[in-house]
Amino acid sequence: MSLNNYRARVNGCLDAHLSQSSALNENMRYSVLASGKRFRPILTYTAASVFGVDLSQADSCACAVELIHIYSLIHDDLPAMDDDDMRHNQPANHMKFGVGQAILAGDALQALAFDVLTNNDTIKAETRVTLVRQLSNAAFAMAEGQSIDLSIVSKNVEIDLLYSMHRKKTGALLQCAVMLGALLKPDLSHEDRAILTSFSEGIGLAYQVQDDVLDVSTSDAVLGKRQNSDADKDKPTFPSILGMDESIKIYQSLYEKACEDISQLSVDEASLRGLTEKLMSRTY
Ligand code: IPE
Ligand code: IPE
Ligand code: MG
Ligand code: MG
Ligand code: MG
Repeated sequence: MSLNNYRARVNGCLDAHLSQSSALNENMRYSVLASGKRFRPILTYTAASVFGVDLSQADSCACAVELIHIYSLIHDDLPAMDDDDMRHNQPANHMKFGVGQAILAGDALQALAFDVLTNNDTIKAETRVTLVRQLSNAAFAMAEGQSIDLSIVSKNVEIDLLYSMHRKKTGALLQCAVMLGALLKPDLSHEDRAILTSFSEGIGLAYQVQDDVLDVSTSDAVLGKRQNSDADKDKPTFPSILGMDESIKIYQSLYEKACEDISQLSVDEASLRGLTEKLMSRTY
């Protein structure tokens, strides 16, 4: 299946999960159904499909990961965090609904993510517990990474701290997106699981280093959010510490190493490799 098909599939499922008639639901729809790239659910579907898992089993995982991601973006843009006014080429959630409602939309999206994840009868109860633990650990790591991010504004920090912050604030959820898809295969081997753990850790870290680079190099209109947001807030980033060329080399080699990792899988990894190449060449 193509990326566009996966994107359309998750968009349809997300729409269906946000069908209540309430003001909070309208708020959540505003951010969830905006123009996110949907790379996390696409990773989930792709990982599931390389292991021959039926996509109807992967829908709940794909949605849950994206709901956590959108919650993280709504909170990330708040005045008390990155104080950004634009997201997905539209006013940030708090600019449209106010800070209080934006906080609540994020809270509700996190709750909805776990409701959706557990509410799929096609997945064995025991497997669902494994999935919940993966997602709760990733959501926790994201919050921890965001906490570090706020604590180092205007500080001189070592690059090692940025590596660990990026793994947490962004890497953990991308890693989780891959692992949820693969863990739907009940008899996933230890070897394949270890390979995917390494692969997904690599692409998760690469994704945030690349986000730091794109923040410097890419316009508001293309990003759909403000260029130079990091420099404007005096945030330490890979480019601010190591420069653009070195940062680009770092994320490229992380993606390349991730592609090497999956060549060892026991199944045909071509679609996962193709997706990783797409991530590496993303322009926003
Ligand atoms: C932006 O993520 C924030 C990060 C964690 C890097 P994406 O660039 O995947 O955002 P959308 O969902 O496509 O807008
Ligand atoms: C966001 O990092 C990480 C999250 C967990 C949301 P950024 O603050 O760099 O993300 P953008 O650039 O605002 O999308
Ligand atoms: Mg941030
Ligand atoms: Mg931000
Ligand atoms: Mg950024």
